[in-house]
Amino acid sequence: MISLKSKREIGIMAEASRIVAEVLQELREHCKAGVSTLELDRIAEEKTVKLGGQPAFKGYRGYPKSLCTSINQQVVHGIPGHTVLKEGDVIGLDFGVLYKGYFGDAAVTVPIGAIDPQTERLLQTAEECLYRGIEQLVPSNHLSDFSRVVQNHAESNGFSVVKEFGGHGIGRQLHEDPMVLNYVANGRGIKLREGLVLAIEPMLNVGTDRVQILSDGWTVVTLDGQPSAHFEHTVAITDNGPEILSKVA
Ligand code: MF3
Ligand code: CO
Repeated sequence: MISLKSKREIGIMAEASRIVAEVLQELREHCKAGVSTLELDRIAEEKTVKLGGQPAFKGYRGYPKSLCTSINQQVVHGIPGHTVLKEGDVIGLDFGVLYKGYFGDAAVTVPIGAIDPQTERLLQTAEECLYRGIEQLVPSNHLSDFSRVVQNHAESNGFSVVKEFGGHGIGRQLHEDPMVLNYVANGRGIKLREGLVLAIEPMLNVGTDRVQILSDGWTVVTLDGQPSAHFEHTVAITDNGPEILSKVA
């Protein structure tokens, strides 16, 4: 079931998403060689509580931490632990907050020092997919307009799009309908309307689009071990066009 949000609700979701954006901004500054993913998780929790929010992922379907940290060939849902960042890594940081009954959700992929040129291009293309996709989030477009733009931009740059995970509606629940595919399946998808709020999250791979889940039950990795990148924003569809809620003002 799709729930449309009022202006008042979108206002609260903007506050929730703003906390997410501020946390990601601070985490970005801490992403240096020698830092452990567990330290990043702790920083995210502390900052969230300070800003009056609650980490959304901890305990969600049994997820054990507050932050998702996905390094190199890890696509999404990497669990913070004793792994230490090193020069040349890329790390996906995915974070969600619950604030006044509403969720915000966003992600970035960050390079650690100098990374190889192909991986740099992967990150850049994945972020472009996010923003090109967001441009499509206007009333009267269909969901597949978003999916097509993301898939085309990824594939025309020689990268593949992960098919087994996608974005989602968001609001009083972290994951609401509709599912937001990053590739064109069948049909045009639902018609977009004012009040729809979506967490959109393209995931791009250098090699195969195939992924698998590790034995920890969470960490999604590429089947060929090549790098992956993930960017996400919480976006409200308004009559004035898409409004990115998860950005630092
Ligand atoms: N942005 C991720 C998603 O929508 C966050 C979920 S992580 C989980 O899939 F741990 F909460 F599941
Ligand atoms: Co999400």
